[in-house]
Amino acid sequence: LPARRLGGQHVIVTSGPTHEPIDPVRYIANRSSGAQGAAIAAALRDLGARVSFVTGPAEVPPPEGVEVIAVETAREMREAVEAALPADAAVMAAAVADWHVANARPGKIKKDGTGKLPELEFAENPDILAWISQLPQGRPALVVGFAAETDDVLENATRKRKRKGCDWIVANDVSPATGIMGGVENAVTLISDEGAESWPRLSKGEVARRLAERIADALSLEGDS
Ligand code: C5P
Repeated sequence: LPARRLGGQHVIVTSGPTHEPIDPVRYIANRSSGAQGAAIAAALRDLGARVSFVTGPAEVPPPEGVEVIAVETAREMREAVEAALPADAAVMAAAVADWHVANARPGKIKKDGTGKLPELEFAENPDILAWISQLPQGRPALVVGFAAETDDVLENATRKRKRKGCDWIVANDVSPATGIMGGVENAVTLISDEGAESWPRLSKGEVARRLAERIADALSLEGDS
């Protein structure tokens, strides 16, 4: 029954941007729409997986038939991923902010009339992909990360796979000229320990379906061993 290839398997998918508060009304974010992550969650669901969909404030609505865990910040996202474990696979498609504002204010920052500018201090966010990839116990059998790069895409993504410790990296070129960030298409290269495989420019739905099939292939090999 090919449609149930992921029956009985639990997959965690992160998606969307994170919002990092500056004060109660302002935040730092990025241009992720959440479209690719939502498509991946839907494709995994269509293969029969139980999907925990941990999403930041995305533009695209979450798919039906998945467990939606809505978060704002990277720190909340890491905790939600931890709470969703154990999992057979994890697909970290979120565009997680690298930093949060360490001196976020409890009240709205006001212009005080003196021309003095607010000073923001930054602190590093948890790297959710590196953390889950290097879990000493309970690491998902397959961890997939994403690499949105504007320069030297292959080289950077290959290095990122090593540094983070994930099994696969889905690399995409998000230079403004590609129109990929926020668009409906994606052109990706799948990087594993077997090398790099470039896929043609496809809809984000088709990228998701191909990736879900590959995940099902990998998990079925895992089950055999
Ligand atoms: O290092 P960079 O942010 O480019 O890596 C991208 C990959 O790492 C994505 O899969 C993203 O979801 C993941 N990531 C993460 N936690 C962070 C930063 C990135 O999971 N704090």
